[in-house]
Amino acid sequence: MVELAVELFRKQFGCEPQIGGCSPGRVNLIGEHTDYNDGYVLPMALENVTVVIGRRVDGDVCTIVTGTEEVPEDQRILTFPTPGPSSLLQPIEPPKLWHNYVKGVLVAFDDNKGNIPAFQAVIVTTVPLGGGLSSSAALEVATYVFLEQLCPQLPKRSDKEKALACQWAEHRFPKMPCGIMDQYISVMGKKDYALLIDCRNLAESEHVPLNDPQVVVLITNSCVKHELGDSAYPLLRAQCESAAKKLNKPSLRDVTTEQVEAEKGKLTDDELKRCRHVVSEIQRTKAAADALKTNNYVQFGKLMNQSHNSLRDDYEVSCKELDRLVALAQEVPGVYGSRMTGAGFGGCTVTLVQRDALKAAKEHIQAGYKRATFIESSPADGARSVSL
Ligand code: GLA
Repeated sequence: MVELAVELFRKQFGCEPQIGGCSPGRVNLIGEHTDYNDGYVLPMALENVTVVIGRRVDGDVCTIVTGTEEVPEDQRILTFPTPGPSSLLQPIEPPKLWHNYVKGVLVAFDDNKGNIPAFQAVIVTTVPLGGGLSSSAALEVATYVFLEQLCPQLPKRSDKEKALACQWAEHRFPKMPCGIMDQYISVMGKKDYALLIDCRNLAESEHVPLNDPQVVVLITNSCVKHELGDSAYPLLRAQCESAAKKLNKPSLRDVTTEQVEAEKGKLTDDELKRCRHVVSEIQRTKAAADALKTNNYVQFGKLMNQSHNSLRDDYEVSCKELDRLVALAQEVPGVYGSRMTGAGFGGCTVTLVQRDALKAAKEHIQAGYKRATFIESSPADGARSVSL
């Protein structure tokens, strides 16, 4: 991956890159749409990463080139004046253009104070785009780490502050009101561990071992992405917030199943469903982390299956392709559990499967859903600098 980036840099700029940052995508094992409700999530960082490498240059122009083939050719080069009070970086249309993720992080990095020198950089990635594996957070955090190498004189932020800065960038530039899960795991991932994140109090987060050679985390990409997802996310988030308000609680983290049922008269039908999902999903996530600690994969798998049903029926973020992939996986002996992962409306499923059953699982899924592609990744390390 780094070699590919170096080659592209040489070709593009005719010289050698000197510094670089790298950050992983993630798969969320369980705890979906709970992060912005102050709940728990249980993701792991992937071996798939985004790499940003480059060098400082004289002058006042920054140039960044992406090697990502999905990006149309006329959008692959981004050039802008060095950011600062006199050249404020602004989001551009459309919001999801990769330029916005990078520019947002540049602004978040030094609050537009003008400390970032001119640079040339290239970006390459092995995180599938728009697949629910957090290609956005990988890009943001890799950009952040690149800037840390570019500006070694500036004070360093803590890992938590780094994740929050990248989340801020995503809220303000691509205008996606995401929770903290993706940026946090991309920074904090650890080889051989999943991370139980307490999104109310990040300091309480806990690395949970996931390194049993007999067990595989299989990611299946549906290779579909429904546009509805982009507009649905802020709406779902708003429904959760208004439900918590009506139940007189700071967030759905503070609400119990009993309270939801006792006070359901105060909620709209949609709010009631969102509450049912979020409140039960927070409980499932804690239970799943406990199951993982005792290698109880059967229990873990049951919770994954329940999570999928709840996302499909109560949170209404699944789609027929994801339901099909989950159903196919669940038919295979040796599969513990399967669910959609990420925001939904397309993207990937995650399946916990015995290593002995992996081949059969992939064949069965592929036979029933031709377009499926697979990723097998062990839990990997989070963001790091790249030595060149
Ligand atoms: C997206 C967001 C996360 C989280 C998930 C759903 O990935 O970026 O913050 O809300 O959706 O669990």
